[in-house]
Amino acid sequence: MNAPASFALGKSRSVGAANILFPADLARHALILGNTGSGKTVTTERIVHGALAAGAPVVIVDGKGGRLERTARALATLHQLPFRSALGLSPNSLGYNPCRIGEPAQVADKLVSSFTFDPAGEIYRQVAQEAISVLVTAMRLAGIRVTMRSLADALDPSAMRGLAERVAIQDADLARELRGLSSRGNPSSTAYLGMRARLGSVVRGVFGPALERGPSLRISAALKDRAVTHISLPAMASTGDVSVMARILIQDLKQAACLRLGAQDLPPAVVVLDEFAALGDPTQMVDLLRQSREAQISIVVASQQLPENVDLRGSLLSSGLVICHQVTGADAETMSARFGTRPDIVVSRTLDPARRGKVAGTSIRRSERPEISASELMHLPTGRAAVVWNTSGHRVAIVDIEPLTARGVA
Ligand SMILES: Nc1ncnc2c1ncn2[C@@H]1O[C@H](COP(=O)(O)OP(=O)(O)OP(=O)(O)O)[C@@H](O)[C@H]1O
Ligand SMILES: [Mg+2]
Repeated sequence: MNAPASFALGKSRSVGAANILFPADLARHALILGNTGSGKTVTTERIVHGALAAGAPVVIVDGKGGRLERTARALATLHQLPFRSALGLSPNSLGYNPCRIGEPAQVADKLVSSFTFDPAGEIYRQVAQEAISVLVTAMRLAGIRVTMRSLADALDPSAMRGLAERVAIQDADLARELRGLSSRGNPSSTAYLGMRARLGSVVRGVFGPALERGPSLRISAALKDRAVTHISLPAMASTGDVSVMARILIQDLKQAACLRLGAQDLPPAVVVLDEFAALGDPTQMVDLLRQSREAQISIVVASQQLPENVDLRGSLLSSGLVICHQVTGADAETMSARFGTRPDIVVSRTLDPARRGKVAGTSIRRSERPEISASELMHLPTGRAAVVWNTSGHRVAIVDIEPLTARGVA
């Protein structure tokens, strides 16, 4: 790849073209914030365009399932790169099977941590984790395709005994372990039922067909090959389904980041999370941001609001590139603080009432004023954004983002 590369976001009202260095400016991730309709997605497209021009593989997780797919496809064509769609509605779209890759314990962890358990349910979480890990090992050994559906079926005592018979000759210990799992009473039997119901509800939901369909998306490959990958999380799915799927994707991205740590010569990759439901899972998101950074994966988060969670908020605000479209209320204050202040000179005059308002004295004092005030951020028109980026010092600009449509891309 031709490093160092740079791309323009648009015209800055103060510093000329607002050029972003890739990968340096994105190495600590990017945050794009703004009210609905303020221009986040258009800005995101611009970044994707720049990253592709610099040779990066790009994976887009589209929380609205729509608009970005068309642009992603057009961008792939423009850059003469392969395009992949996953979880989309079209029959050509790739499936996604989170059980296919990873050690059995990793698969178990991915699935179990994608559901929420209250503190009293911790025991069920542990039981499910252990059982799924053993089941995945056995199913693979028996040549059974592991999917969320086949796992749900296997989380049943009689199915466990059947599986034990199938693997007994190849692995007697494993068969014994399965029989042991199958004969446990409570809380294990309740935990199997609970996990079975949870997996079953996802499988019966809107993602069901895509979870069974092959060929399926491999996230680590999508982060390695120069290509554009679009993953849809359709807006019409139930919020429960979407948040489970979003969590599974986070786990997979984290795993892919880990795999990259040991690998040589991988290009820096970009993952776009546009209106990503899993922002509601702050602990996992903070982990993802940290691990990705080490693995040279830049995460571009586009969101309508700052998350309430303090840690995630801090992680996002410390992104190397922060783009703020029109925002409201408390977010405007927080973002104004993120843009910093500049020195200012305040001149105040006191008037003398006895001398009909003539100036009695002048005082000059040094002060600091916001680079961009909260009020300015609240009144930005569509397509205009306040931008701060840090590689070559702290740079702040108000930028008119240049939409790709102007170049005939979308
Ligand atoms: N830089 C721009 N220049 C001109 N028009 C723009 C620009 N950015 C956005 N628009 C227009 O404004 C509309 C909304 O833009 P966009 O979809 O990017 O907003 P958004 O912040 O992603 O909204 P949402 O939160 O609903 O996803 C679109 O019709 C788009 O064409
Ligand atoms: Mg959008």
